[in-house]
Amino acid sequence: MKALDIVIFGGSGDLSLRKLMPALYFLYGQGRLAHGSRIVGLSRGKIPRDDFRILVLEKLKLYLGPDYEKSQALAFVELLDYMDLDISKIESWDKLATYLSPVGAREVIYYMAVPPTLFGTVCEQLNRTGLNPSNSRLVVEKPLGEDMETAEAVNEILSTSFREEQIYRIDHYLGKEAVQNILAFRFEDGTLEPFWNRDHIENIQITVAETVGVEGRAEFLDRAGILRDMIQNHLMQVLCFLAMDTPKELSADDVRDQKVAVVQSLRSVTAKNVADLVVRAQYGPGDMAGQSVSGYAQEIKGKNIAGTGETFIALKVCVDNDRWRDVPFYLRTGKRLSARYARIVIEFRDADIKQVILNIQPDMTIQFDPPVVHEAVVAEDRRIPDAYEKLLGDVMTGDQSYFVRHDEIVASWQWIDGIRKAWDETKLEIHDYTSGSMGPEASDKILAKSGHKWVEN
Ligand code: BG6
Repeated sequence: MKALDIVIFGGSGDLSLRKLMPALYFLYGQGRLAHGSRIVGLSRGKIPRDDFRILVLEKLKLYLGPDYEKSQALAFVELLDYMDLDISKIESWDKLATYLSPVGAREVIYYMAVPPTLFGTVCEQLNRTGLNPSNSRLVVEKPLGEDMETAEAVNEILSTSFREEQIYRIDHYLGKEAVQNILAFRFEDGTLEPFWNRDHIENIQITVAETVGVEGRAEFLDRAGILRDMIQNHLMQVLCFLAMDTPKELSADDVRDQKVAVVQSLRSVTAKNVADLVVRAQYGPGDMAGQSVSGYAQEIKGKNIAGTGETFIALKVCVDNDRWRDVPFYLRTGKRLSARYARIVIEFRDADIKQVILNIQPDMTIQFDPPVVHEAVVAEDRRIPDAYEKLLGDVMTGDQSYFVRHDEIVASWQWIDGIRKAWDETKLEIHDYTSGSMGPEASDKILAKSGHKWVEN
């Protein structure tokens, strides 16, 4: 293991302090950052290095709670540097180039913890200054576009300076251990794999329920809607892991080839079928944990927000291939629902196994109905690593398995754009639901048409 440099654009921002630093702290604790490695935070303001270290220490203490260990934290912050960088100024880039020279001598990971509007300039400057040798890697995160066209534009920007093998597109759901376990459950354990098809499975349900409302993000969420904020990425990734065919090997590209094949076989949503396949809704007033809360319309009142973004969506997804033809995949996600959880329910048609539930969060468990002996696979007493820790660890070792490839992004946007087009054309109703419920009744009806029901918590 060799020393490397980790360069964080937006180093003093929220993502860096709340997620990346804790992840790096744990990786350091596991001995995965070689002696002499450097983590440099880049932001606009001038912050002396020692102040930056103190800031990171304070945040580690805050976010790690009982996992914070003072001596480890003090040793970790010794790796930190800070540099003020005005991305519009050539001098700033020259300074970075000097810091990183001799270029290529050690691996460099660039993490873009900045808004996508800055990706273009950063990539251009890294290219211009030659700071993108083949052993450098670039990490980016959503939103990577807001439709197929803009996603292509983002890809274009990234690919002018970095090759696909150097680009790590984060979807933090892929870093959740329980999501990664789907692959292990299917292809390593494999007990159920012979039954993982239309001959045995009646339907599959994926629910990601949140209790938070739009909070301070109303402007963004109203524009994006939950379809683009959650379905295009997180639920789509889970769907792909569940529906994909067996990869030749569990290599990054074989896995991703199979995921793309799933997205490409999704039945298009059109003006003709949208009403049968899609329910969108916004939360109304209600009761959350004994507190009455106001509805979405009231929250955004007077804010110059159009108010057309959905805060809940339920979809019936058809994967039109030999394995899954006629097996519905039901997806739902929403804000201000009755509880925060993410789970997958697989309903079987066979008599000896009726149901398998894969709980993703808050608990990470597998339940079988009827129960089987090896149930509760993950009831160990250990810290479950955060998604960013898993993913940054993979970037460090150069494993792209749990990162989204260019063609996956484009294919999923194409499908999502179809849904938006269909609901615009048909002026699909935006339902209401009570805060603290599990969404509008209309979402039950999508399933009822095929004789199915949401399996609730
Ligand atoms: C983010 C979305 O990507 O995922 C948020 O932008 C959402 O709206 C969050 O709240 C959910 O992530 P998790 O890990 O809390 O389920």
